[in-house]
Amino acid sequence: MVSSGASESRATVILYDGMEKKVRNESLVIIRNKNGGDVLAVCRGGRGLNENVKTGSFNPGVAYARRGRIPSSAKEYYIFNLEVIGAVGEDGIEQNKLIIAPTSIVELFSDEDDPMKLLSKGSDLTIGHYWGRPNWRVPILKQYINYHIGIFGVTGSGKSYLARYEIIPLLRKAGYSLIIMDWKGSDYAPYFEPVILLDKIKVDDFTVLSYFSQLTKNFGYHGREENPVASAFERALRTVEWRGRTPSEARDLLYRKAKSILELEGSRLKKTETGQLWLERLEASFELITEEEIEKFLGTMEPWEILAEAKDKGIVVIDMSKGEKEQKLAAFYSITRYLKRLMERKQRLDVALIIDEGPQYAPWQPRGLERETTDLIIDLCALGRSYGLSIVILSQGMAGEIGLNSAVRRNLNTQFIGRIHPLDFEEAQKLAASYYISPETLLTLPEGHFYFLGRMNPSPTPLLISFEVDK
Ligand SMILES: Nc1ncnc2c1ncn2[C@@H]1O[C@H](COP(=O)(O)OP(=O)(O)O)[C@@H](O)[C@H]1O
Ligand SMILES: [Mg+2]
Repeated sequence: MVSSGASESRATVILYDGMEKKVRNESLVIIRNKNGGDVLAVCRGGRGLNENVKTGSFNPGVAYARRGRIPSSAKEYYIFNLEVIGAVGEDGIEQNKLIIAPTSIVELFSDEDDPMKLLSKGSDLTIGHYWGRPNWRVPILKQYINYHIGIFGVTGSGKSYLARYEIIPLLRKAGYSLIIMDWKGSDYAPYFEPVILLDKIKVDDFTVLSYFSQLTKNFGYHGREENPVASAFERALRTVEWRGRTPSEARDLLYRKAKSILELEGSRLKKTETGQLWLERLEASFELITEEEIEKFLGTMEPWEILAEAKDKGIVVIDMSKGEKEQKLAAFYSITRYLKRLMERKQRLDVALIIDEGPQYAPWQPRGLERETTDLIIDLCALGRSYGLSIVILSQGMAGEIGLNSAVRRNLNTQFIGRIHPLDFEEAQKLAASYYISPETLLTLPEGHFYFLGRMNPSPTPLLISFEVDK
């Protein structure tokens, strides 16, 4: 029964005797509002109270307890906070506008009921099931899929499993073709087809140049000063047919072309020392641009072929396990820059991009190529909302050092939050303040349990979901 002090969005319920053994944190209930209508709500933050054993001052009950005797439980009762989901209207749940009358009766749902139907608004798309109720599939709002999705939780909290068992099938059902960036090559590559290996992908010249600029510390030049060596290398990349050859041939071709460009430029100048300096810097740079380095970029599969494959098969997995970080970022950059260009030309994509290990691409403080991938992800998010690209990012942290870049995170309008890292305690407190979810709960969620919140969730308050995996 609802106690005194209820509002239209919150109430406290006093449990009938014995119900404290049945009602749990996250149990769903229906409030039969005496002011009219029914209200769907969730129990959060229960408490057991007994006047006789109140602490803070000495009283007979405390004295009893001190002597090892059990004080009377006549004045014992249990309460739960109720977080309102909404009023039950003709076509499902709507915002509750009536004050909940004290003494209204509250009922627990049984397993045969399916309160999720109230939330579904005619959509047949679902994600996982409500906590503890395997037959209550949780509905989602399809129109917000391309407002992007964030999945957060410490390593081992079940993020990749959630993506594999629930998010990927859901997106397929919603009509998206998927490109999955499998950073470790073990979370998706063994389970989906086709798989494309990193070194098969053609990385565009621009990105190759960025990579080698990083590697060679800008070919020996500082900051923004004019860089004829980089220009010559760039021209060599563009004019020589170096891909699809052996690493040594490719390297040799690039070196000779860049050298001849610099020699020609140098001979036009009157100062021979300057021309000599260029050649020395080219030479020094090529000590770092080894055959192994060149080999990373000999792939010939173009971004458009990857997209075509995704469209054709419904899914492609990019297996990034064999490669160094910068090379992975370069391939990612190359593919996603192409997607961006298509959207800039107003092409609708209906593609979802799954980015596991998100902070690798868009960390808190991006450096080097990370800065370019971070900016690109932000652009993709903005364009994606108009042109049907959904970005799904998995990250072990929410904010701060282990977290995702905050500008990227702001673009993820739906979130799944599993067990969080203690470093994210502050973030947890913010959630706690808004929805009665205690930070301790978030720190101790079992694997495969996530709070689902944001635009795709038809409920204004987060719902605790889980999902089944086949053994
Ligand atoms: N819904 C689930 N039910 C049972 N076990 C799960 C579930 N989700 C995840 N797990 C277990 O948790 C482990 C870690 O999951 P994983 O998705 O790899 O975590 P993360 O990607 O967050 O590091 C899995 O190997 C699996 O054993
Ligand atoms: Mg993982």
